[in-house]
Amino acid sequence: MRVVELENIRKTFGKKPTGLRRRRASEVVNALCDVSLHVDRGETLALVGESGSGKSTLGRIALRLIEPDSGTINVLGRSVSDLSRSDLRAARRDMQMIFQDPFSSLDPRMVIGDLVAEPMVVHRIEPKADARRRRVAELIERVGLSVRHLDRYPYEFSGGQLQRVAIARALATDPKFIVCDEPVAALDVSVRAQVLNLLIELQRERGLAYLFISHDLSLVRVLADRVAVIQRGVIVEHGDTNDVYDRPAHDYTKTLLSAVPGRDPRRRKLLTSTA
Ligand SMILES: Nc1ncnc2c1ncn2[C@@H]1O[C@H](COP(=O)(O)OP(=O)(O)OP(=O)(O)O)[C@@H](O)[C@H]1O
Ligand SMILES: [Mg+2]
Repeated sequence: MRVVELENIRKTFGKKPTGLRRRRASEVVNALCDVSLHVDRGETLALVGESGSGKSTLGRIALRLIEPDSGTINVLGRSVSDLSRSDLRAARRDMQMIFQDPFSSLDPRMVIGDLVAEPMVVHRIEPKADARRRRVAELIERVGLSVRHLDRYPYEFSGGQLQRVAIARALATDPKFIVCDEPVAALDVSVRAQVLNLLIELQRERGLAYLFISHDLSLVRVLADRVAVIQRGVIVEHGDTNDVYDRPAHDYTKTLLSAVPGRDPRRRKLLTSTA
């Protein structure tokens, strides 16, 4: 089943006022140029490409956190390109995002229990406090934490634990589609595999569709069913992971892959924890 489909997405940005490099006023960035992709139920599509190639922009557009200049976005067979504000809010229930750095994506003034409950409140899921508390407890245990943690604040946690909280929060609305934007890149190497295994298990349990953004091509080989390679806003190559890795067609893909050390275990084998 097709969960998300993007067609002919274009996005340009004007001059970035706080950018590191100064651009002339006339300069625009073609962040995305005629990009199309889809993700099916239970499937991981990895989006790889160097820094600034447009990966996060595409992830945000898929969730309509930012607007494309043109193109269409379908979620669960329904166009979300021109939904009203309130219909879009309702549709957001089905799609969530996990960011690279949980310390900046989670409000430091909220306790863990409230962070996980908040999306339910927003979407009026489990409006009764008792039932909501039960569901929060189930979620927090599912991601490998405990109800003891619910009254604590983000600063009391490690990066890996906090990313588990972010995952529980993302699951609170029972989404069908999750954009994972470098979800383990900011974590200690020792906990990366655990968090990735959790994401894989949850995908299997719930049939989640992932758009998985990553710089780490070894990781993508293990994790992704399909890969889209993006260069300066253009998808230059797209196919089954093994095909792309074994027979890269585009020079840019070959260059990216040449930087990957060694061969990796067979796809879909669970990552072994290094902890
Ligand atoms: N809000 C914005 N205003 C102006 N330019 C932007 C904005 N967001 C992104 N860009 C530009 O769009 C291009 C794509 O950025 P994007 O963040 O999508 O890249 P990325 O592939 O996610 O990079 P990274 O791997 O470093 O996260 C870059 O040139 C970036 O500078
Ligand atoms: Mg990015």
